[in-house]
Amino acid sequence: MNTTTLWRNARIATLDPDIGQDGWGLIEHGAVLTNGASIAWVGQEADLPAGAAPARTVDLGRALLTPGLIDCHTHLVYGGHRAAEFEMRLQGASYEDIARAGGGIRSTVAATRAASEGALLYSAARRAEALMAEGVTTLEIKSGYGLSRDAEASCLSVARRLGQALPLEVRTSFLGAHALPPEFEGRSDDYIDAVCRWMADLHAQGLIDAVDAFCENIGFTPAQIRCVFEAARALGLPVKLHAEQLSDQGGAALAASFNALSCDHLEHLSADGVAAMRAAGTVAVLLPGAYYFLRETKRPPIEALRQAGVPMAVSTDHNPGTSPGLSLLLMANMACTFFRLTPLEAVQGITVHAARALGLRDRGQLIAGQRADFVAWDLQHPHELAYWFGRNPCLHVIQNGVQRS
Ligand code: NIG
Ligand code: FE
Repeated sequence: MNTTTLWRNARIATLDPDIGQDGWGLIEHGAVLTNGASIAWVGQEADLPAGAAPARTVDLGRALLTPGLIDCHTHLVYGGHRAAEFEMRLQGASYEDIARAGGGIRSTVAATRAASEGALLYSAARRAEALMAEGVTTLEIKSGYGLSRDAEASCLSVARRLGQALPLEVRTSFLGAHALPPEFEGRSDDYIDAVCRWMADLHAQGLIDAVDAFCENIGFTPAQIRCVFEAARALGLPVKLHAEQLSDQGGAALAASFNALSCDHLEHLSADGVAAMRAAGTVAVLLPGAYYFLRETKRPPIEALRQAGVPMAVSTDHNPGTSPGLSLLLMANMACTFFRLTPLEAVQGITVHAARALGLRDRGQLIAGQRADFVAWDLQHPHELAYWFGRNPCLHVIQNGVQRS
């Protein structure tokens, strides 16, 4: 059966470095030929191979086409919200003060444990739909608000079910080492042992794609993170880390020594951390929403990362405590205004580099052989993706070769 479709009459930002000089990989009067769920050919319409006989043709009306957006760091599954904590912080309390007083992550853990799986699925689906409306085709979701074996399993299976229920690819990360649950008070090493046991179990249930942890004064120590990472390595699972968000713990270098896919946040990253990430090929995931919402002033060392050639991704870090936003395009904009990324870097950060942060090489660029995930925008040039905010220029999303909307 002929399953080919020609998506024609578009300007295409392929992000293929081999096309043009400026990194956007622009093709004017372009077309994409898909075969089922993958891209068979991309080029100028006039150059369509003579033998191509698409079963279907879709006129994109001169829209701009880019790869599907990838949100590579979210905590999408949780109960409740933390608006009261936001008010406390506006009145002077710090994120750490609130966490040490038993609020913060722990309050979301209580609300998540109290919620039914159906309620968690419903609220997470609404959030996922908000991200998808702006062109997100791949979404990473972390656990980390259950913090018991069963509650973590529920959150991860909600994430898996989202990927089945919605036209969306979901990747899961097990973040058991996110915070110490109250029943382990004063016994953080015991908790880490428990996390490592649960990991094997949850992995056996097919619920984990990667393992994440929170290395911080109010999180876990580098020695504890090492135990978690060793357990992950023994199971063949890749790791990533919430590193150097509030202080420099040397977490990035530790994660790099385990060939981490990514280190995320990085406001307090040292020169040694940058070098270690570079050597390991670890992606730097920048989270300007959390930086903004916590009113941080110390920025990640962007210039050092750039000079070192460390790939930079950009993500929402959607969570109820530090980044309750649901716009990846706004994050691209903030990555430019707050962190001084170029618009090209910001767009690479929500496409090709975000894919790398998830260990995925089959998406993020519009190149033959990649998955047929792409977005048609009501825009002239892709740098506008990092320019407009509070406006959704998404016209159509093609997911796995099928038009979603
Ligand atoms: O990525 N830093 C740790 N984890 C989340 C925040 C979680 C929360 O406050 O609920 C983050 O910012
Ligand atoms: Fe996070």
